[in-house]
Amino acid sequence: MKVALVGANGHGAWHRRNISEKSDLLFVGMADPQPVSSPEAPVFTDHRTLLSATRPDVVVICTPPPTHLPIALDALSYGCDLLLEKPPVLSLADHVTLTDALTASGRVCQVGFQALGSAAWSRFRDALPTPLTGISAVASWKRDDTYYARASWAGRRGVDGALVNPLAHAVMQALATGTAAGAGRPRQLAVERYRTREIEVDDTAFARITFDTGLQLLVAVTLAGEDFIAGEIEARGPGGRALLEYPTDRLALPGAATLASVPGRADLLTNLINHRADGKPLLVPLSATADFTAVLETLAGAPLPHLLSGDTVAVDGPHRTIPGINEVLVKAAATLSLPSELGLSWAVPPYRRRLPS
Ligand SMILES: NC(=O)c1ccc[n+]([C@@H]2O[C@H](COP(=O)([O-])OP(=O)(O)OC[C@H]3O[C@@H](n4cnc5c(N)ncnc54)[C@H](O)[C@@H]3O)[C@@H](O)[C@H]2O)c1
Repeated sequence: MKVALVGANGHGAWHRRNISEKSDLLFVGMADPQPVSSPEAPVFTDHRTLLSATRPDVVVICTPPPTHLPIALDALSYGCDLLLEKPPVLSLADHVTLTDALTASGRVCQVGFQALGSAAWSRFRDALPTPLTGISAVASWKRDDTYYARASWAGRRGVDGALVNPLAHAVMQALATGTAAGAGRPRQLAVERYRTREIEVDDTAFARITFDTGLQLLVAVTLAGEDFIAGEIEARGPGGRALLEYPTDRLALPGAATLASVPGRADLLTNLINHRADGKPLLVPLSATADFTAVLETLAGAPLPHLLSGDTVAVDGPHRTIPGINEVLVKAAATLSLPSELGLSWAVPPYRRRLPS
């Protein structure tokens, strides 16, 4: 099986290792306009040259989000199956374009939400309390100025932001929890987005999403956090709560007091190869990401996030922290409330929109 990679640096370095480690795959080449050090396969500066020279069966696409759709369409025109990094596309119109191209070509697209391949996720999904009264996702990370200087699209409206890029997995996992609980489609979004530096996107955000059934989820995340919270999805109801730490695959099912590791994560590329071989279902087909794209598209149309300053932000060289933010994240998640509803002095009214479908 011939595999090629488009976008070899940045997160592409992880894919290079992953492809190289699989002895049953032939790593036929990579495309990147930037120099690639110690390449494991021939390097081309343009993905079309890579495609025509190497004729891969599968193409992994790990480039800046605005380039995903055109590269994916080119790869499909060469008859390739795709492993496409998240966020797969930037609008529902692009989602439809890619879906139509997949149908026309008979090829498939797996999307790089890798936490959906974990054994912990499938146990969590199968053991959700019923009825479910709320879902929350909390993460507290720290990203300094260098994070926003690393790429031209970093901090840019429509393509980046805590909710749609570094903590996109929290949003996707929470949406998938609602889907698994039979809550229907997500319909309403109320979001408060904040930034601690002069970027165009949120580094701290609170998003409440309401599904068809009325079930609500609240995502509360920051890149200007205090103590590190890796990423916790909680689903709760009268029957108890299930808690999944999605980056580490630790899980506490209803009745369990503490998180315990659940080893086992299906690799998305291996799953795609198995799908080609014997029709094994894809773990994250493009169709499973439509709700995420609806959220991304809606956020792209929102005003600039509110700029926090003064005493609200502690600045230490390239680092910025919002004092007290972890307590706010936890309280927002527990009550499915936004900061303005919690009476935070720095909070602004939410942006509310009906989500497109
Ligand atoms: N699944 C995950 O956990 C995860 C983690 C990190 C990043 N990502 C995603 O991976 C993608 C890449 O992110 P990144 O931080 O590595 O970005 P990046 O800006 O560092 O770009 C990655 C590489 O793509 C190359 N590139 C740019 N345009 C190209 C083109 N037209 N053809 C070929 N190569 C091109 C760049 O030169 C760079 O080497 C994004 O979609 C990002 O959201 C996913």
